[in-house]
Amino acid sequence: MYLRSLLFGLIAMGACAMAAAQAPIVIKFSHVVAADTPKGKASEYFKKRAEELTHGKVRVEVYPNSTLYKDKEELEALQLGVVQMLAPSLAKFGPLGVKEFEVFDLPYIFDDYADLHRVTQGPVGASILRKLESKGIVGLAYWDNGFKSFSANTPIRTPADLRGKKLRIQSSKVLEEQIRAVGGMPLVMAFSEVYQGLKTGVVDGTENPHSNTYTQKMHEVQKYLAVTNHGYLGYAVIANKRFWDGLPAELRGQLEQAMREATVYANRIAKEENDKALEAIRKSGKVQVYIPNKDERLAFKKAMLPVHQKMEARIGSELIHSIYRETGFDPSRL
Ligand code: LMR
Repeated sequence: MYLRSLLFGLIAMGACAMAAAQAPIVIKFSHVVAADTPKGKASEYFKKRAEELTHGKVRVEVYPNSTLYKDKEELEALQLGVVQMLAPSLAKFGPLGVKEFEVFDLPYIFDDYADLHRVTQGPVGASILRKLESKGIVGLAYWDNGFKSFSANTPIRTPADLRGKKLRIQSSKVLEEQIRAVGGMPLVMAFSEVYQGLKTGVVDGTENPHSNTYTQKMHEVQKYLAVTNHGYLGYAVIANKRFWDGLPAELRGQLEQAMREATVYANRIAKEENDKALEAIRKSGKVQVYIPNKDERLAFKKAMLPVHQKMEARIGSELIHSIYRETGFDPSRL
């Protein structure tokens, strides 16, 4: 009797050990936007390819829409290893002490996606990602989102229309300075709180690419939206360094491959997703969409360009100029 139960016990222990040996490595990937956005779709794409390429040895759990953590908390959670991957906006690394990412927030520094890719897919982009290592973070890739529009409850045609307005921004000193440059009052607020902030009048307006505006229904609580394309918003996909470096080399290689594929996908869909979102915003009839004319665009650009020089001390003049060199930045180009 005793021998039989001992035998059963040993078999059960063996089964548990085998199950544990086969249990997949879980990657919690947290983000703050809706699933139906460039970042939401790309993280699902990464999940699919990561699980396929590792033959189920890795399971990726994607948590969209701030369901796990809000902006600031998610970075803390990553550093603590409570989540393993994130893709925060490039405008959110300043509080972590990696100010160089704020170079991407400089108004008008990129004319289009082609300009942007010269940086994100080249040596300058790679060198900025490497700055994360001292924070216990590994930078895996850049994922595109898009160019920002301003929205408010009063018409926006020139920079003067933003004067005195309380405008929600992401946690970036460059964005703070950009809003001051047009006479507005910047207010940092977590992404998950923007809809409510706009609805209750805590802030008068904001800036975002159309995919975010649409999926968070911000256009339903704003009366006017001006397609200013004055700045860029995109992402750095990052992982907890201890976790990433501790992965078996074969699995890490497969995950890197999944990330390469997800990055191609993200950057292929971003513009189209934002164009589609603008169309949906227009069709909703909830907000009046305005496309500034050439003179109005020039007025925005003239008002905001001084931000580049003002931010040299924070971001580094050499870094800003290395981007100018990559893109052939021309302050007079519209
Ligand atoms: C925002 O806070 O407006 C964006 O960074 C949200 C996002 O992740 O696109």
